[in-house]
Amino acid sequence: MPDYRLGFESLRHERHVPDLPVHGDLPDWLTGTLIRNGPAQFEVGDQAYNHWFDGHAMLHAFRMGGGTVEYRNRFLQSQSRQEALDAGEIVRSEFATDPCMSIFGRAMSVFNPQPTDNASINVARIDDAYVALTATPIPVVFDPATLETAGVVDYDDDVDAPMSTAHPLVEPGTGRTVTYLTEFGRQSKYHIAGIESGSRSREVLATLDVDRPRYMHSFGMTERYVILAEWPLVVDPLDLLLRGKPFIENFEWEPQLGTRFRILRKEDGEEVATCTAEAAFGFHHVNAFERGEEVVCDVVTYPDASIIDDLYLDRLRSDDPTPGTGHLRRYRLSLNGGPVSSTVQSEEQLELPRIHEEAARARPYRHVYGVGEETPGSFTDGLVKIDVETGGATTWREPGTYPGEPVFVPDPEGKSAEDGVVLSVVLDPSANQSFLLVLDAGSFNERARADVPHAIPFGFHGQFFEEESGR
Ligand code: CO
Repeated sequence: MPDYRLGFESLRHERHVPDLPVHGDLPDWLTGTLIRNGPAQFEVGDQAYNHWFDGHAMLHAFRMGGGTVEYRNRFLQSQSRQEALDAGEIVRSEFATDPCMSIFGRAMSVFNPQPTDNASINVARIDDAYVALTATPIPVVFDPATLETAGVVDYDDDVDAPMSTAHPLVEPGTGRTVTYLTEFGRQSKYHIAGIESGSRSREVLATLDVDRPRYMHSFGMTERYVILAEWPLVVDPLDLLLRGKPFIENFEWEPQLGTRFRILRKEDGEEVATCTAEAAFGFHHVNAFERGEEVVCDVVTYPDASIIDDLYLDRLRSDDPTPGTGHLRRYRLSLNGGPVSSTVQSEEQLELPRIHEEAARARPYRHVYGVGEETPGSFTDGLVKIDVETGGATTWREPGTYPGEPVFVPDPEGKSAEDGVVLSVVLDPSANQSFLLVLDAGSFNERARADVPHAIPFGFHGQFFEEESGR
């Protein structure tokens, strides 16, 4: 029976289709390219990667304009992939996969670690470069027109840390890209860094000492502050060197530590408040903003970190799948360090949350878009739009299909923050193919779809890039 598990199978061929079949009515103003990232090859030789986060990155580009959709997909030619293809076996460590190494090989990798550049999580623009991103700070550059890999970003600075986030945020107003990095060592540290628009140099804005760093996938940012949500999933840095386990398996769940929020002022690097809430876990911050003497911080949360285990491929392909969604939780953090209050904002669960980036980032806002689980036991089989103030939700669902992250694209002539479309790549297992879905963001009704001639494995994140003149 074809079902959503097709989304966890490898896609090996690369295609260019100048004109996908389009049904419905694409808005005239929708001109630009949606570029999505995700894993597409889960085996090398007779070895297999363990986790959804481990497969070889593939880029998919949907170029829209004049009522047409051009499609192209191509593997990212990372060193990690190239070495694996050359050797016929897994060579570099990924999030939850460690290559089988001799004692000698392991000793060498400790002294000469080769962090993965298999950037399968997200895409972004840094300076004038289009880059694929993962949680190691090695942005892989690609040509947005051909999707050909073109090296890595060589930062012009001396920041040296092995872990970062695939979710940098662009500061409204300044265009500065803000990110964080984790440095493991005798004294581990978190660094907050800013990259000015047009620069390839990371300026350290704040540094915090931490004894046992915690696993974080993203962060929050308001006009003045950066918020790190330290879930109680902690690592002893020595274990990363000595235990010889895949990266994430060195982290321990210690709920008695609670969730620690660290609020850092970008202007001078001061930690202005530290607040502890009850234990929870989350991958994705949705948004954050300042309100009087508090910071409001919205995150998709889970009761604990078992969601990481649920996303191992054998589990995802089993008869007992995870819903893959969490709750939209609003944390109210006092800048005076008082107790944290937190509330679930909606009964509707979601993941891969997106907002109207230009209008809503770091400001009070109303709507978040995400994937949802409409039918229990069917993974993510719908799209949701949640009103974060009222908790009300609008959903889109077509039975037997499985949508990915919804990317909001504003109508340039739009009058309200909901005027625009939502773009999602939807898997249709019974047709053995995927389609690009275009929803009206206001009504959440379908406007158009474009058929892709193959099934696209479930991906993570993508971005819409407006057409540049001269291309
Ligand atoms: Co993510």
